[in-house]
Amino acid sequence: MNESIDILVERPSLRRIALRPASEPSLRDGQLLLSVDQFAWTSNNLTYARQPGGEFWTLFPAEEPWGRIPVWGFADVVASRVPAIAPGERVFGFLPMSTHLRVEPVRISERGFFDAAAHRAGVFPLYNAYARVKRMPARREDVEAVLRPLFATSFVLEDFLRSHAFFGAGTVLVSSASSKTALGTAFRLREGGGPFVCGLTAEPHRAFVRGTGCFDAVHAYAALASLDLPGRVLFVDFAGDEALSRAVQERLGSRRVRTLRVGATHAVSKDAPLLDFFGPARMRELRRAWGADAFRERLEAAAVRFESVAARWLQVERCDGMAPFQRAYACVLEGRLEPSRAFVVRLADAQAASAAEEHAVQSLLGLGATCS
Ligand SMILES: NC(=O)c1ccc[n+]([C@@H]2O[C@H](COP(=O)([O-])OP(=O)(O)OC[C@H]3O[C@@H](n4cnc5c(N)ncnc54)[C@H](OP(=O)(O)O)[C@@H]3O)[C@@H](O)[C@H]2O)c1
Repeated sequence: MNESIDILVERPSLRRIALRPASEPSLRDGQLLLSVDQFAWTSNNLTYARQPGGEFWTLFPAEEPWGRIPVWGFADVVASRVPAIAPGERVFGFLPMSTHLRVEPVRISERGFFDAAAHRAGVFPLYNAYARVKRMPARREDVEAVLRPLFATSFVLEDFLRSHAFFGAGTVLVSSASSKTALGTAFRLREGGGPFVCGLTAEPHRAFVRGTGCFDAVHAYAALASLDLPGRVLFVDFAGDEALSRAVQERLGSRRVRTLRVGATHAVSKDAPLLDFFGPARMRELRRAWGADAFRERLEAAAVRFESVAARWLQVERCDGMAPFQRAYACVLEGRLEPSRAFVVRLADAQAASAAEEHAVQSLLGLGATCS
C-alpha cells in the first residue's frame, strides 16, 4: 500500500498548512480502507472549519493545534474486511484532506453505507453517509464533486421556500449570488417558477452571474440603495455580512418578509455566524416525508439538470499534488477565486512531495500564494 499522507491546517487561523505522513494500522474485521481520489475545495469547506463549537474538527481527528478540514469527494475501496463490499468499488462522501481513510460500514445497502466509527457518532447522518457510485453518462465527476453537496442544499432550500409559499414574498433576494449554492438555489427557483429572483454580488462578479442565466436580475451590492424589486421581499443570505443585512433592512423596511441566513461567505475573519437554515436537517425531513428513494431520485434528476447547465460556465481546475493544492487553498481562504472557477484536488502526488519534505510546515502567507 502507498504511504498515507494527511494535510493538516493550523487552528484557528487556518493560515498554516502541514503535510504529515500518517500511520495506517492494519484493517480490522468490519473495516474498509478508502483511497481518496479527488475532492472539491470551496468556501463551504471553510465554513465547516469556522463553525462555532468546532464540531466538524471531530470527524477526522488530528492533534491540536492542527485539524483536518472535511471535504466532499470520490474515493476508491483499496482494501476490505467487509464481505459485502469489494476492493475496486468507488464511493462519494465526506472525506478528510488525506490520501486515505478507514471506515466501519454499517447499514450497508446497494446504494451505500454509513461509517460507524465511534468518533463520528452524533453528527448528522449525511456526514457519515457514503454513496456507492454507479457512473451516469450524463455526469462529469469533477463537476459533480464540486456541485453535488452544494446543490443538495440548493434543492432542499428551494423546496423549503416553495412549501412556505415564499413567506408571501414576490421577490427572493439572494446575497453572494456568485456562490455555487446560491446559483443552484436560483436555478431551482426559476425552474419551479413563481417569484422574481434577484441576485446581489460583488461588482467584479456581476457579469459572470448574469451570464449564468440563473437569476431574473443581478445587481452589485452598491446598487442596493436604488433597487426596485417587485412585491414583498424574502432575503436569502449566503454572505453573512452584518452591514449588508442592516442595509437590506434599511432599504426594504416592512417590505422584507423574512431573512433566512444560509451561508457566511463574507464572514471570513471570525467564527461563522449562526445559520437559520441547515441543509442536512431539511434533507432528513424530506427523506422521511417523501421516502428515501423518491427523495434521492428527485434530487439526482435536478442535480443532473443543474450540472449540465453549470458545465457551460463552471471551469473546474484540477490540482494534482501539494503545490497546486496550496495555491488553491490560499485562493479560497483569501476569497480571491473567480466564481467561474472551482478546484478539484488529487493528492496522489502528495506522497512524492512528502518524501522530500517530511514533516514540512509551510506558511501560506510566507509563500505569497497566487491563484494562477
Ligand atoms: N446552511 C447550509 O446547510 C449550507 C450548505 C451549503 C453551503 N452553505 C453555505 O453557502 C455559502 C456558499 O458556499 P459555496 O461553497 O457555494 O461558496 P463558493 O462558490 O465558494 O462562493 C464563492 C463566493 O463567495 C463570496 N466570497 C467568498 N470568499 C469571500 C471573501 N473572502 N470575501 C468576500 N466574498 C467572498 C463571493 O461571492 P459574492 O461576490 O457574490 O458575494 C465568491 O464569489 C457558504 O457560506 C456555505 O457555508 C450552507
